[in-house]
Amino acid sequence: MIVTGGASGIGKATAERFLAEGAKVTIADVSKLKGSEAVRELKRKGHDPQLLVGDVSNAKDVKRMVAQAKSRWGRIDILFNNAGILVEGTVEDVSEEDWDRIMAVNVKGVFLMSKEVVPIMLEQKKGVIVNNASCSGLVGDRNAIAYNTSKGAVVLMTKCLALDYCQKNIRVNCVCPGEIDTPMFRQEARARKMPVEEYRKQLSEYHPIGRLGVPREVANAVLFLASDDASFITGTAFSVDGGYTCQ
Ligand SMILES: NC(=O)c1ccc[n+]([C@@H]2O[C@H](COP(=O)([O-])OP(=O)(O)OC[C@H]3O[C@@H](n4cnc5c(N)ncnc54)[C@H](O)[C@@H]3O)[C@@H](O)[C@H]2O)c1
Repeated sequence: MIVTGGASGIGKATAERFLAEGAKVTIADVSKLKGSEAVRELKRKGHDPQLLVGDVSNAKDVKRMVAQAKSRWGRIDILFNNAGILVEGTVEDVSEEDWDRIMAVNVKGVFLMSKEVVPIMLEQKKGVIVNNASCSGLVGDRNAIAYNTSKGAVVLMTKCLALDYCQKNIRVNCVCPGEIDTPMFRQEARARKMPVEEYRKQLSEYHPIGRLGVPREVANAVLFLASDDASFITGTAFSVDGGYTCQ
């Protein structure tokens, strides 16, 4: 299994969840520092993940990482396209550079990783891709033009991939998390110049369930979608959002 952005937050929790199930996991992350810390932590817990450092928006890095993962494990059964970044702001605030960067990581990154991994899955005649979109890919938000647009694209890319490969034994789904308590959430609080606790309280009120999610709750959904228990599920946008998108 490859988990992009596996050094932190949802990606790290998902890597750990799958490792606990006995999966062979490659963490592919742009941050060598965070990646090494995550791998050290997982090794302390008795796991042995592979760490690959690279940028999912860079085709050369992607080719190298996928080849290294294939060579280490012999096959790639599961791809979790999770790496993503957040850029906040309205159309007036977001710079062209920030727009290009978020589209490169959040949208092109999913495209490039899938482009490299799908031929391997076709050869194996089996595979599962789970993309990490967001509830922000299903509804609009204020002050989030670039992020929500990128996540909306991930939802539709998921459906297109699902249709292209559903008869080749490759299922493709995405998870759409609500607000999850990760470093990205804390980045949002900082950007709003709000104390984390105050921001947590405010966001908890937006989620009908009355709290934020934790990374493991998304990891559990990814595990289900990647498992044979989800054998008739493809092309879905699976909300893990405490009811955020119900209202
Ligand atoms: N936290 C939330 O509330 C939330 C909600 C919905 C969706 N998501 C999505 O979940 C995913 C993970 O978010 P998180 O909250 O765990 O964030 P995070 O910031 O904790 O982790 C993101 C990881 O991705 C890595 N990364 C960033 N750019 C990369 C690149 N170009 N190539 C490879 N790795 C890269 C980072 O180094 C980091 O380790 C993102 O796609 C995010 O948009 C998060």
